[in-house]
Amino acid sequence: MKNLLNSNLFVEDKLVIEDKKEKERYNIEEIKNKIILGDAFNVLRKFEKEIFDMVFIDPPYFLQLPNNRELKRWKVNSIVEGVKDEWDKFSSFEEYDKFITNLLLEVKRVMKSNATIWVIATYHSIFRIGKIMQDLNFWILNDVIWVKTNPMPNWLGVRFTNATETLIWAVKDKNVKKYTFNKEYAKLFGIGKIGANVWVLPICWGKERLKDENSKKIHSTQKPIELLKRVILTSTREGDFILDPVAGTGTTGYVAYNLKRNFVMIEINPKYVKGIEERFRAPFKITDNLYSSKKINNYVNIKKGLNGL
Ligand SMILES: C[S@@+](CC[C@H](N)C(=O)[O-])C[C@H]1O[C@@H](n2cnc3c(N)ncnc32)[C@H](O)[C@@H]1O
Repeated sequence: MKNLLNSNLFVEDKLVIEDKKEKERYNIEEIKNKIILGDAFNVLRKFEKEIFDMVFIDPPYFLQLPNNRELKRWKVNSIVEGVKDEWDKFSSFEEYDKFITNLLLEVKRVMKSNATIWVIATYHSIFRIGKIMQDLNFWILNDVIWVKTNPMPNWLGVRFTNATETLIWAVKDKNVKKYTFNKEYAKLFGIGKIGANVWVLPICWGKERLKDENSKKIHSTQKPIELLKRVILTSTREGDFILDPVAGTGTTGYVAYNLKRNFVMIEINPKYVKGIEERFRAPFKITDNLYSSKKINNYVNIKKGLNGL
């Protein structure tokens, strides 16, 4: 586990490329370790085909939260900040499915023949995404269930507290065999002795959360560094080229770079791109500690609860 991190960290002067209509093509060297400010659907088309070893997608959820109702924490009487961002709004499932389908098609073209793809979502959309992926001939290798140790409770008490997200891990099609899978990490991160496909770790919180000058969080769905560490360490090698076409706060590239991989990220919102740039220019907040498995086992009481693992 030693020497996981990039000891040679440097941040290039020009980290962000603003995509322009008149720009027709990007070659690999000009986009390596860059954040592209632009619309993923326009930008991806300008990349050469089959260049990425791994793709991570954390797409809009289409949560469909009511706009006209505030959700209050009944004990402390404060307002729950849900995901009400414009980027999460679609007029219908049909429109959402079109977004996901087109994104997956563009991404498939730029994946190397043995590349893998991760897509993360909640119950609101993961089933639709899984169906679309299968319809597009992606071959699902696993789903990994992320169990959150600090989920937001269901304040109204009308449903189970939703403490999970699902990651689908897939290859381009059924015939792909020689993809990267680092089983020693999979074993380390998964629950129980055999390292099953359940990862237990907290949502992004505390100092890791990017905040603006008014101490408000920059992004409503920033993913934790630990989650991306697990994705990247289990499915890539040093030097690999990783794509995140809907980057948000840029967790994917941030972790990739620290783990000696290369990245390209695309994000349409200038506010988030500014946040990513500041994140890269500040001292790096990433260590080679991996989330304590003792704490995890205590939380889920795995050893007692799941026989045979
Ligand atoms: C769920 S968030 C990603 C969060 C990210 N994984 C993180 O750790 O911060 C989805 C992101 O997709 C971006 N997005 C939506 N449509 C896009 C498009 N057409 N091109 C590029 N980015 C887009 C949104 O602005 C939003 O930041």
